Amino acid sequence: MGNHFRLETDPDHIAWLTFDKDGAGTNVLSLEVLAEFEQHLAALQAQQPRGLVIRSGKANGFIAGADIESFARIRTGQEAMDLLESGQQAFNRLEALPFPTVALIHGFCLGGGLELALACRYRVTRDDPATRLGLPEVRLGIHPGWGGSARLVPLIGAPRAMDLILSGRTVDGRAGRRMGFVDQVVPERHLTAAARKLILDAPPVHRAGTLERLSNSPLVRPLLARILRKQVARRASPLHYPAPYAMIDLWRRHANDRDAMLRGERESLARLVSGVTARNLVRVFFLQEQLKSLGKDPHYQPKYVHVIGAGTMGGDIAAWCALRGFRVTLQDQSPARIAPALARAHALFKKKLKQPVTIRAAMDRLLPDHHGKGVAKADIVIEAIFEDADVKRSLYKNIEPRMKADAILATNTSSIPLEELTPALAHPERLVGLHFFNPVAKMMLVEIVNGQATAPEVSAHAMTFTRRIDRLPLPVTSTPGFLVNRILMPYLMEAVILEAEGVPAALIDRAATQYGMPMGPVELADTVGLDICLHVARVLASHFQAEIPASLEQRVSAGKLGRKSGRGYYLWKKGRPVKPAPSAGNWNMEEITNRLVLRLVNESVSCLREHVVAEADLLDAGLVFGTGFAPFRGGPMHYLDAIGKQALLKQLTELQRLRGDRFTPDPGWQDLP
Ligand code: NAI
Repeated sequence: MGNHFRLETDPDHIAWLTFDKDGAGTNVLSLEVLAEFEQHLAALQAQQPRGLVIRSGKANGFIAGADIESFARIRTGQEAMDLLESGQQAFNRLEALPFPTVALIHGFCLGGGLELALACRYRVTRDDPATRLGLPEVRLGIHPGWGGSARLVPLIGAPRAMDLILSGRTVDGRAGRRMGFVDQVVPERHLTAAARKLILDAPPVHRAGTLERLSNSPLVRPLLARILRKQVARRASPLHYPAPYAMIDLWRRHANDRDAMLRGERESLARLVSGVTARNLVRVFFLQEQLKSLGKDPHYQPKYVHVIGAGTMGGDIAAWCALRGFRVTLQDQSPARIAPALARAHALFKKKLKQPVTIRAAMDRLLPDHHGKGVAKADIVIEAIFEDADVKRSLYKNIEPRMKADAILATNTSSIPLEELTPALAHPERLVGLHFFNPVAKMMLVEIVNGQATAPEVSAHAMTFTRRIDRLPLPVTSTPGFLVNRILMPYLMEAVILEAEGVPAALIDRAATQYGMPMGPVELADTVGLDICLHVARVLASHFQAEIPASLEQRVSAGKLGRKSGRGYYLWKKGRPVKPAPSAGNWNMEEITNRLVLRLVNESVSCLREHVVAEADLLDAGLVFGTGFAPFRGGPMHYLDAIGKQALLKQLTELQRLRGDRFTPDPGWQDLP
């Protein structure tokens, strides 16, 4: 029939259909796969086995979803409809089989994968945190289209189902069982037996409770839809992210009519697929894949990490590495300085791992080491001490002779060029920057800073290590501010200048969030810490002759450092800024947005000209994953392309005339196509 599935029948006449996509490391669903799947279903329908178990032959998971590459190639509404209809048809057929069916799930079961599982009578999952179930389609600017919402909503009620669909978040098997769409959660060794027993016993299937059914009734829906829309609006505007709103609308209109819901899913999704948002979010997905592909050296197998400096960054880097399975020693000047980092690590492990045994195992992997004994054993030494070149150099002198010959020395410096640090080293080629962003547990990007002396294999190993701890490596040159901070800083400084001109901070932030930034620049500066912003601004100013706004210096001297001191540009209460509702008054919102965004775009052009990063796509990836730059716009260079070079240059020149030389177009604009 094809090469993507294996079908076996056991002595109990149970059919075991194993999905093992040919030539791929991960199971994804394409037109071709769906066609072969349907053929198997047709044959099984004729054979009438006792039951059917669908499982995956891949170690990493059940099914990751639809094949996004074929999805990205869709050009017309008709092509989209063809893909949607074949999926819906296959899953309808699966659901209609007259014998029990079980989806046997380990690892990820996402999007189309969960939609397939939902069409089975029962779902059994492996009991571990690596098993993740969800419908993350909204993250690509679309919503489920193969019956995911049509099946999940009646099964577990609207509040829980819509929460999963609208947030795109994933849950483990236990959470799935609590929500009602997973029937059994068992340890790996019991998976097969559990599936077999379900087929042989064929217990009643899960049904939604009274309240859950009520949530889909025509009387409740309009009210609940309004609440859902309000919740979504807090995270995403309908203008930028239409998919969740389309989903709420579909559910409100058709929740109790399966056929209408399926038709609605198809029609609405076919429209969304060709929209700008979905196209750009799919682009961001591929940018992420591109970054992932940079760190794939199977021969490099680091196991032991030693981190020096247990402060904000070092402590969190050490915890993150231990969470991802590395043995880690954490050094600082005294045990007392290490203790708070261990407490934070414990909180992180509790949140991420949940089960006491695995939390304890992670804690056992992370050892306090104030004498620095780990230096001699580590494959990677990560230095995250004070941002002071002298202090860093004297530390390197002390540790280098004790390091293993092939160990990497990585610095987390945010601003010191590697060339200022290498004089302390006998082997400067082993120094590389691993520039993590704060907070480490949230920020996906790590800049891999290559100094003039950094050996290519050291850089390659640093990228592979970054992938092993599930972060995204971005290679950049060792130039002031590297890539992300250099581009971010002019944008933040423009916000500071606008505020000094009298524009209310909350209005500046609103202009940015309306553009699509996850957080406004003033709030971001307060969150990062105004002292840290000022420090980076000074480093950049010393290289690029930029001016530092006096108002920033004054705030820092007055001890107003932002969130950490309770006051910065905003007053902070319980970790949140108090934002008075601003009125636009006579302020020109379009100009405010342009001033912020154009400084950022202009600096991006400058970085490309100076080859801080190899290409425009990588620059976009850096800004999206390092700062959260409006993902639906696909990154600053993609935005430049979308609006057009000439149009943006005209605005920039006009701003230069009105607002001064900081808006002078970078010479790199001339090199752009
Ligand atoms: P921090 O001040 O919170 O922590 C630094 C730690 O290093 C302190 O606990 C200190 O006792 C320890 N330390 C200093 N000298 C030492 C030595 N010789 N041996 C052992 N431990 C020593 O600083 P933070 O914020 O964690 O920054 C660390 C590095 O990370 C800096 O290079 C900074 O530029 C960089 N960075 C900071 C970011 C941030 O947002 N805070 C973001 C990205 C990079």
